[in-house]
This record gives sequence, C-alpha cells and structure tokens, in this order.
Amino acid sequence: MILPKLFSLALALTGGALAATIPETDFDVIVVGGGPAGLSALSALSRVRRSAALFDSHQYRNDPTREMHDVIGNDGTPPALFRAAARAQISNYSTASFIDTTITSITPVSNNNFTTYFRTTDNTGAEYTSRKIVLATGLIDLLPANVPGLVEGFGKGIFWCPWCDGYEHRDQPFGILGEIGHIVSSLLEVTTLNSDIIAFVNGTYTDENVAALEASYSDWRAQIAAYGVRIENRTIASFTRLQDGGEVQNEAHDQQLDVFRVDFTEGEPIVRNAFLTNFGTAQRSGLPYDLGLAMTEDGKIDTSSYSGMRTSLSGVFAIGDANSDGSTNVPHAMFSGKRAGVYGHVELAREDMAAKIAKRSVSTRALHKEAERLVGDEMEKIWERVKA
Ligand SMILES: Cc1cc2nc3c(=O)[nH]c(=O)nc-3n(C[C@H](O)[C@H](O)[C@H](O)COP(=O)(O)OP(=O)(O)OC[C@H]3O[C@@H](n4cnc5c(N)ncnc54)[C@H](O)[C@@H]3O)c2cc1C
Ligand SMILES: *[C@@H]1O[C@H](CO)[C@@H](O)[C@H](O)[C@H]1NC(C)=O
Ligand SMILES: *[C@@H]1O[C@H](CO)[C@@H](O)[C@H](O)[C@H]1NC(C)=O
Ligand SMILES: *[C@@H]1O[C@H](CO)[C@@H](O)[C@H](O)[C@H]1NC(C)=O
Ligand SMILES: *[C@@H]1O[C@H](CO)[C@@H](O)[C@H](O)[C@H]1NC(C)=O
Repeated sequence: MILPKLFSLALALTGGALAATIPETDFDVIVVGGGPAGLSALSALSRVRRSAALFDSHQYRNDPTREMHDVIGNDGTPPALFRAAARAQISNYSTASFIDTTITSITPVSNNNFTTYFRTTDNTGAEYTSRKIVLATGLIDLLPANVPGLVEGFGKGIFWCPWCDGYEHRDQPFGILGEIGHIVSSLLEVTTLNSDIIAFVNGTYTDENVAALEASYSDWRAQIAAYGVRIENRTIASFTRLQDGGEVQNEAHDQQLDVFRVDFTEGEPIVRNAFLTNFGTAQRSGLPYDLGLAMTEDGKIDTSSYSGMRTSLSGVFAIGDANSDGSTNVPHAMFSGKRAGVYGHVELAREDMAAKIAKRSVSTRALHKEAERLVGDEMEKIWERVKA
C-alpha cells in the first residue's frame, strides 16, 4: 500500500510531531493587562507582525505614586504618561489592538482537529479567540483597611520600595512600618538614605516574634542600635497628613516634603516625613486561579518551573509582578513581557511551520487517495514508477 509510505514521509517532514491544523482565531495572542509588562509583550509581538489584542481594565499597581523612578530614560516620569507614550508608539503597528474592558473568563478549547486555542470573554459579554494568552494582570497591595490615612498616604510619602521613592525622602525623619521580624531587612535597604529612623512595630514586639527574629538575625539588637533605630511598639490608630510632598518640594534637591502625624491608641503622637512599609500582596485577577495555573506558596503564578515565562498550562504565559520571578518593578515587567513576546512568537511560528509541512504532505496523500479511487490497482504500479 502506498498510504503508509506517504504517511511516514509526512511524519519525517514534521519531525514526528503531530501537526494539527491551525485554528482560525481573532488574534494570535491575547494579552491581559496594560501595565509595563503587557505593553512590553504587545510591543515585541507587534514588531514581528503577530496579531495581538491587549485588554486593560485600567487598574495599575503604581497608580497612587506621583512619579516613577529607576526606569532608565524615564526617571521621574508619571506612570500614566509612560503608559500613554507606550500606547501611542505601539498603535503605529497595524497588528496591535487595544481593548479597554475587563476579561472575565478564559477557556482553553482543544480537540483533535486543531492546536489548542482560547476563548476569552470580557465584561461586555464580547468573546474573542486567540492561540496564546499572556497574563500581565499584576498584583494588589494588601493594606489594612482599619487604619485611617494609611491607604490615602500610600505611594505619596508612605511607600514600600526604596528604589521607587526613597531618594526623594532621604535625610528626612523616617519610619519603618511592619512586624518586628521585618525591621532588620527593611533597615538594610535604607541605611544609605536615612539616619533618623523609628521602627513602628504596632504591638508585635512580643517574646514569640523576638525568638523568630533571633533565629535569622542573632545580633539584631546590636544592628538596630548601631543605626540608632528606636522601636515604637504602641498600637497605631491613624495617620494624618500635615503636609503634601506633592506640593511642598525642594526641587533643587529632588526632595518631596511630606509630613504625617501618627496617632496611637494611647499616649502622645509622633511626627515623621516618610515611611517604608512591609505589607503583603495578592494577585489582582482571579484568572490565574480560574485557569488552574500552578501557583507558588506566596501566591505568584509559577513561571520558574518552565522556560520563557510559560506557566503550567500550555499556551499561557505570565509576566510582570504576577509571576514568580521574585522581582516586582517596571524594568522586570518590561523584561518579562519582552521575553514572553519572543517565546510566544517562536512557539506560534513552530506550530505554523509544522502545520504547513503537514498540510503539504496530507494534500499529497489526499491526491493519491483520490487517484487510487479512480484507477484502482493501477496506482500501485504508477507509484512504483514515480519512486524509481
Ligand atoms: C506605590 C507604588 C509605586 C511604585 N513605583 C515604582 C517605581 O518608581 N519604579 C518601579 O520600577 N516600580 C514601581 N512600582 C512597582 C510597579 O508598579 C510594578 O512593578 C509594575 O506596575 C508591574 O507591572 P505589571 O504590568 O506587571 O502590572 P500593573 O502595572 O499593575 O498592570 C496590571 C494590568 O492588568 C490589568 N488587569 C488585571 N486584571 C485584568 C482583567 N481581568 N482584565 C483586563 N485587565 C486586567 C490592569 O488593569 C492593569 O492594566 C511601584 C509600585 C507601587 C505600589
Ligand atoms: C508612531 O507613534 C508616535 C507616537 O504617537 C508618532 O510620534 C510617530 O510619528 C509614529 N510613527 C509612525 C511611523 O507612524
Ligand atoms: C473535526 O472536524 C470534523 C471534519 O471537519 C468535524 O466533522 C468535527 O465536528 C470536528 N470536531 C470538532 C470537535 O470540532
Ligand atoms: C496594627 O495592629 C492591629 C492589630 O493589633 C491591626 O488591626 C492594624 O491593622 C495594624 N496597623 C498597621 C498599620 O499595620
Ligand atoms: C508590645 O505590645 C504588645 C501588644 O500590646 C505587648 O503584648 C508586648 O508586651 C509589648 N512589648 C513590649 C516589649 O513592651
């Protein structure tokens, strides 16, 4: 029989891989998230003319901040201007689309006819299909809701990242906010920026917590004493802004002069200019959980166990703060977005190529099948001649 021979030829051409047909989708890639990670992925995909749509619900982690820092070429740029410039530039590429809705579900569709694709639905009920998904959905900061003035001050004098905001508050009376176990690691990040430091540990100075701290830093008392850090253990009741560093600045020296009064459940208040925080984070979106992606213990999408920003689900990539790289800043968001753009493109190209080769082989096979039907046994002889 000739068919098995041709079939093995097809297998040889496709390297033995099962080459499925490419499904007709609305886009090659759907990117969920329009922060620096998603924008970077869209840029990389657009530069090689992959059709891609970026969905953006306009909830950005650094929305509260006045200025973005430590992003070379954009030191001090407000995040909204940075994103707007990226959008304007990427809009030049005809294969890029921006859709400003919230994605509510993503469902993988697989059957033997096609390579897997995804059906994505947004909050307007519109459905879109794509061959790959890039999640750039970010994190939220878990700030306690029962402390008046804290959320309002976050990103504006009360900050979590010394690289983002520390320099603008250097040499100012400073506070470290957090459980006593976090004080030494926070201190290590700011010793070059601030010297008048109070650690506000909010009632966590307990024997149990001290024992845990001593396990990591046996000489923690000497370390904080060496920098003159005083521990304030009273329970914090509220933060009250006395001055807005967005308005009161020492522009010649890039200093923002925020002033806060900290009130406690008892005793006298304390006044400080700025604080470094130690609160947790969580995924902004439920999509990683809905998709059943493998997550790390600290609630990040596991990309460390896979290459190229891939996740546990084939065809789904995760970038930016949401993934498990252990790096949550704009340069990492851009790096990881670029990486997913490259790996996603090449993965698509491999599938395209395999399907193209298989299609050619299969159509040769179909041709012979038709010929066989017409000429019956004659085909065997013809085939032997062709081969010779
Ligand atoms: C106060 C503050 C200041 C900071 N300052 C700096 C700084 O100066 N320099 C620096 O490098 N880093 C800074 N960071 C960190 C920086 O904000 C993050 O690292 C960065 O934003 C991560 O980018 P991302 O694209 O992963 O996520 P994000 O920027 O948070 O973007 C997430 C995107 O996903 C979208 N999204 C989520 N779910 C859905 C859905 N279901 N459908 C559609 N869209 C969805 C959101 O709308 C958003 O567009 C700061 C963080 C904070 C909190
Ligand atoms: C691309 O976009 C930028 C920003 O909108 C614009 O200034 C530039 O002229 C565009 N370039 C082209 C080739 O269209
Ligand atoms: C696969 O393709 C065949 C032939 O075109 C079609 O009849 C069948 O419904 C398809 N199966 C699925 C699950 O789409
Ligand atoms: C301080 O601790 C109390 C619980 O004792 C908690 O409710 C509150 O949110 C904490 N405040 C801060 C600023 O962490
Ligand atoms: C700190 O505050 C907590 C809660 O009020 C209390 O249990 C603990 O004894 C205090 N620690 C010190 C060293 O005073």
